[in-house]
Amino acid sequence: MQNHRWLRTPHGTPRRISYGADYNPEQWPREVWDEDIRLMKQAGVDVVSVAIFSWAALQPAEDRWDFAWLDEVIDLLHANGIGVDLATATASPPPWLTTAHPEVLPQTADGATVWPGGRQHWRPTSPVFRRHALALVEKLAARYADHPGIVAWHVSNELGCHNAYDYSDDAARAFRAWLQARYGTIDRLNHAWGTAFWSQRYGSFDEIRPPRRSYAFPNPTQQLDFARFSSDALKDHLIAEREILNRITPDIPVTTNFMIMGETRHADYADWAHEIDFVSNDHYVTEGRDELAFSAALTSGVARHRPWFLMEHSTSAVNWQPINRPKRTNELVRDSLTHVAHGADAVCYFQWRQSAAGAEKYHSSMVPHGGEDTRVYREVERLGGLLRRLDPVAGSDRDRSPVAILFDWDSWWASELDSHPTDRLRYRREALDWWTALLNAGVRADVLPTDADLSGYRLVIAPVLYAVPQGLRARLEDYVRGGGHLVATYFSGIVDEDDRVWLGGYPGAFRELLGIRVEEFRPLWDGETIGLSIGVRGDLWSEPVDLVADDVEVLAAYTDDDLAGGPAVTWRPVGAGAAAYVSTRLGADGLGAVLPTLLERAGVASELPEPLRGTVELAVRRAGDRRIRFLINRTDDAVRLDGIEGEYLVGGPDLPPRGVAVVG
Ligand code: GLA
Repeated sequence: MQNHRWLRTPHGTPRRISYGADYNPEQWPREVWDEDIRLMKQAGVDVVSVAIFSWAALQPAEDRWDFAWLDEVIDLLHANGIGVDLATATASPPPWLTTAHPEVLPQTADGATVWPGGRQHWRPTSPVFRRHALALVEKLAARYADHPGIVAWHVSNELGCHNAYDYSDDAARAFRAWLQARYGTIDRLNHAWGTAFWSQRYGSFDEIRPPRRSYAFPNPTQQLDFARFSSDALKDHLIAEREILNRITPDIPVTTNFMIMGETRHADYADWAHEIDFVSNDHYVTEGRDELAFSAALTSGVARHRPWFLMEHSTSAVNWQPINRPKRTNELVRDSLTHVAHGADAVCYFQWRQSAAGAEKYHSSMVPHGGEDTRVYREVERLGGLLRRLDPVAGSDRDRSPVAILFDWDSWWASELDSHPTDRLRYRREALDWWTALLNAGVRADVLPTDADLSGYRLVIAPVLYAVPQGLRARLEDYVRGGGHLVATYFSGIVDEDDRVWLGGYPGAFRELLGIRVEEFRPLWDGETIGLSIGVRGDLWSEPVDLVADDVEVLAAYTDDDLAGGPAVTWRPVGAGAAAYVSTRLGADGLGAVLPTLLERAGVASELPEPLRGTVELAVRRAGDRRIRFLINRTDDAVRLDGIEGEYLVGGPDLPPRGVAVVG
């Protein structure tokens, strides 16, 4: 991270939890803008993101610019005390550009062109696109450099949401340069990629292409490197825009909105976070409330526990799922405050006013089609009031937890490549299952990139940590020998950073540490499960585990089939700590049978009174000596917070279904 500069406060106003939305006034006649301002002030909005998709409005033709409307919007917002997070407007190129320069349009792995008509139809590596985009950034930065209403720059929008993987000739050229920088010589690449296989040996970098559609499985390390390259190509665009902004407006912080949510995986955000002043994230609920909390904790991990900006989420229904349901009572407030609990210092939505036309007219917003006399707007106003009570939280870090879950983009990309023992494995699902199991046990966890400092964590969980370079292997060993407790799951420690197998038996990188050896993976059929001696069943995966050290203890054995009697879950004391292994997928419920032993041995106890464990999620922010506790009702029933002492900033001891209390 550059400096952790937060929003510029125009009038030296004290920091608070900011509130707002994407604001798209160009969709509306001028008289609506005054009504917008009235309703924003009424709801307590103090920041909006403007001009995200405004390229065509700002530059109607290559040689014509129109900033008058944006001048007026920014002045109006500023005069009313609403800060502007100004977008660089480069997210979607206008029709004149793609007509004049069709060579900026991305190509699929089959070589098909992705045409305009939607949005984000540009190649991340196109020099022509880059030139036009940077010209726009330069114009905007110069025009608004001295405007006190600009509180931050918002680079592009959700970089790679649609255009993450481009297989065009531009991409091929950039991929070759990226590979040359990574490997130096073609011999090193040939070794890393294992090109002795299937006659794939390259004579020079010029012979390499992106993994376009081929027969059989494309080379796995080529696929992995293409995922890394694609993340880097987008990061490169972010840096190019940021450089211009930093040069012309050095006092204005720069951010871009990440997409840490669900299965969105195209960008290594742990790496991108170093390039911006503060992390911003967009999150939409697709897999339930635990996934929301997990994503928020991961966003905090990526932000290295500094406050981050929730740039987008929804007040109610989205429009892009097969079936789109409104949020239920209390969900709007609960979802937003869960993000704050995990470190968000700004709560913003897509979008301010629900569009009357276009592809997102059925997406919820702060001001629905029905106007201010609606359930959603009333909830928006209520949340605006609640956020004011949370101002003491603003600027505080998310408090460290006793347990850490490691999350690694390389392992995500590599573990789900094709030609594996099973194609059913879902990397993020395993991490999420551990998160839910810990919530069920009433224990707080951090979700951390693998380069995080692990000292101080009692228990570190490595779910499907598949790709383990030598350096990470050594750090985890040191962590254990120094007194830490590490839990690795099936399909961890299998390959190095080149996707080359650690030889000698699985899990090669952790075999000695765990004191086990696995000769063959034994994935399970769809619907098949396998019993464990602790009364739960695994699915997806199983293994014949051999013990190769005398001091390995079997915490659970398999009970079925040819694995009956063999170890399923193991524990081994190592140095001052211990290393444990879980060889099958237990799911959140099954992990609940294993966790108490792991937690107890690691010396981790729940901070919640017994009756609240599982029903209430606890998240803590630390403002100096003050620990501010968020108690979030995970259930659809009322819960009484007996045994929680302190001053209630939000709510009271009687939590309604899906309610939140904040105790300072
Ligand atoms: C993304 C985009 C927004 C909007 C929302 C809808 O997050 O950034 O422009 O399309 O999705 O959910």
